[in-house]
Amino acid sequence: MNDDAPGRLRRSQLSFGKDDKDGFIHRSWLKAQGLPEDVFDGRPIIGICNTWSELTPCNSHLREVADYVKRGVWERGGVPLEFPAMSLGETQMRPTAMLFRNLLAMEVEESIRANPIDGVVLLGGCDKTTPGQIMGAASVDLPTIVVSSGPMLNGKWQGRDIGSGTDVWRFSEDVRAGAMTMAEFRDAEAGMSRSKGVCMTMGSASSFAAVAEGLGIALPMNASIPGVEAGRFRMGHLAGRAIVDLVRQDKRLSQFLTRDAFENAIRTHAALGGSTNSIIHLLALAGRCGVDITLADFDRLSREVPLIANIQPSGDFLMEDLHYAGGVPAVQAEIAPLLHLDAPTVGGVTLGEVIAGAPCWNREVIATVEQPVKRRAGTWVLTGNLAPGGAIMKPSAASPDLLTHSGIAVVFEDIEDYKARIDDPDLPVDPTSILVLKNCGMKGYPGMPEVGNMALPKKLLEQGVRDMVRISDARMSGTAFGTIVLHVTPEAAVGGPLSLVCSGDRITLDGPNRSLTLHVENDELERRRAAPQPERALPARGYLKLNEMHALQPDQGCDLDFLVGSSGDVVARESH
Ligand code: FES
Repeated sequence: MNDDAPGRLRRSQLSFGKDDKDGFIHRSWLKAQGLPEDVFDGRPIIGICNTWSELTPCNSHLREVADYVKRGVWERGGVPLEFPAMSLGETQMRPTAMLFRNLLAMEVEESIRANPIDGVVLLGGCDKTTPGQIMGAASVDLPTIVVSSGPMLNGKWQGRDIGSGTDVWRFSEDVRAGAMTMAEFRDAEAGMSRSKGVCMTMGSASSFAAVAEGLGIALPMNASIPGVEAGRFRMGHLAGRAIVDLVRQDKRLSQFLTRDAFENAIRTHAALGGSTNSIIHLLALAGRCGVDITLADFDRLSREVPLIANIQPSGDFLMEDLHYAGGVPAVQAEIAPLLHLDAPTVGGVTLGEVIAGAPCWNREVIATVEQPVKRRAGTWVLTGNLAPGGAIMKPSAASPDLLTHSGIAVVFEDIEDYKARIDDPDLPVDPTSILVLKNCGMKGYPGMPEVGNMALPKKLLEQGVRDMVRISDARMSGTAFGTIVLHVTPEAAVGGPLSLVCSGDRITLDGPNRSLTLHVENDELERRRAAPQPERALPARGYLKLNEMHALQPDQGCDLDFLVGSSGDVVARESH
C-alpha cells in the first residue's frame, strides 16, 4: 500500500514496521481495538485531533464529524485514529479561554509528534481551539487539514434573526437602559443558540475558520456550512480522503503556510469583517512557521480591501446567510485581483481554481468591490506614545463619527474597578469621554479577556448613547462592535504607558492617521512612573506561572516565547 516516493519510509512505519519487541508492542495494543494485521502494512496512519467536549457546545458535534472523516480516510486506503485534545469553551472557561490557547497548542504539538501518525486532521471550532491546534501542528509540520465545527443555525427570536454575541451585547445594554425586560432577555437565550456549532456571526470562530480557507489549509466552504447540515459531514468525508492524498504526496503544512498564504488570509479576513482576535492568532502562527508577518502588515494589506460580506457585527446578516450566498469563495472571488491565486490548497487545486467562477447568489449578503458594504474594513494599527508597540481597531464595527476623537480619560485600574464604578451616578463621564481600562493583558489579567468592549455607563445608556471611544489592553469578542481600541502594547501590567494614564488626561484617537496620543508631558509621565505602584500578585506555580514568565505581547501573537518556531516531527528514541 505504500505508494510514496521510493526509499521514503513513512513515519508510522518507524513504529509499526518493526519485527522486534517494539513493533510487537506498537501493533499489538492497537489490535485491541479490532484492527486487523494488514492495516499495519504501510498505509498512511491519520490522526484525528478532536477538541470535542460537552463543555464546548460549539464543538459538541465533532465526534460525529470525526466519523465522517474516518469514512474518507478508510475509503482512500488510510487508517484513522482519533485522539482528544484540550477543549477551550469560550463561554465557560475562566478567567478566559485565551489563557489556555498556548497550552492547547503545546498539547497538540507533542501529541502529534509523539504518536506514530503520518498526517493529521484538526477538528476544532470554538474560538481558541482552531488557532491553538494549527499552531501546535505547525511546529511539527506533518500533512494537515483543518475541519471546523461550522456555525450554528441563525438565531431566531420574536420573528427575527438574532446573532450570537452581537445581540447579547445589544440586549444587555437594552436591559440596563430599561428598554428590554428581564423576562424577554431570558426568553432570547434559547432563540439565540438553536443548534450545535460556533457563534453564527462573523465572530472569532468563523473568522478563523475562514482564515483557514484563506491559508489554503481547509476545504472550500469550511467556515460557512452550518454545523448541523449534512454538508458539514460531507466535508468531513472529503477531508478524510484529502489528508490521505496529502500524506502520499508528502505535502506538509509548511508548503501551504507561506507568506503568500498569510497575505491571502489577511485580505480574505478583511473582506469578511473578521475578528480582531485573528490578528493575534495569525501573528503567533507566523512565528511558528518562520513567516515574517508583522502587525503593520495587517494594516497595509487590508487598506485596499473593502467590506464585502454583510455579516454581523460589521453588517446585517449571519453565517447561514453567507453560506447560501456563496460562502468565503464568493467573497474571495470579489477581491481576486488582490489575492495570490497560485497559492496551493489542501484540496489539491490552487486558490485561483477554488474561486474561479464561484457564484454569488445574494448581493445583499455578498457585495461587490464597486459597491461594498463599507469602504473601511480590515484592521487599523495605531501607534503613538500611548501604544509604542501598537494597538488595533476595527473600523468596520466602529461609529464613523468617532473614528477621529479627542476626549478626557475616565480610567479604570482593572476590571473590578470598572464593575464597581461604571454605573455610579456620580461618575464624571459624558458622551465625549474616553473610557480607559488597564491590566487586562496577557499577563495582567491573565489571558487577555474579551472585555475591551466594556459596556457604557448606565446613565449614558439611558440618554440614548450607544457608542463611545474605549481603550484597553484587553481583546474583544469578534461578535462585538463599537469604537474600541484594543491590544494596547505593551500592556499595563508590564509597565506600558497605558499604566500611567490618569482620569482627566486628554487622549486623541486619530484613526485615519493611525495615531493614539496621550497629551501628557514626558516629565509628568516619568514622575508618575517613579511613584510607588501597588504590587501585582504573581502566580506561584503551574501553567499561570509559565504564562507570567513567558507570554509574549500581542504584537508577537501572545505565544509563549519558547514555543516560537518548530521542532519538526522527528523523535529519536523508542519508548520501550
Ligand atoms: Fe464558541 Fe462563540 S462561544 S464559537
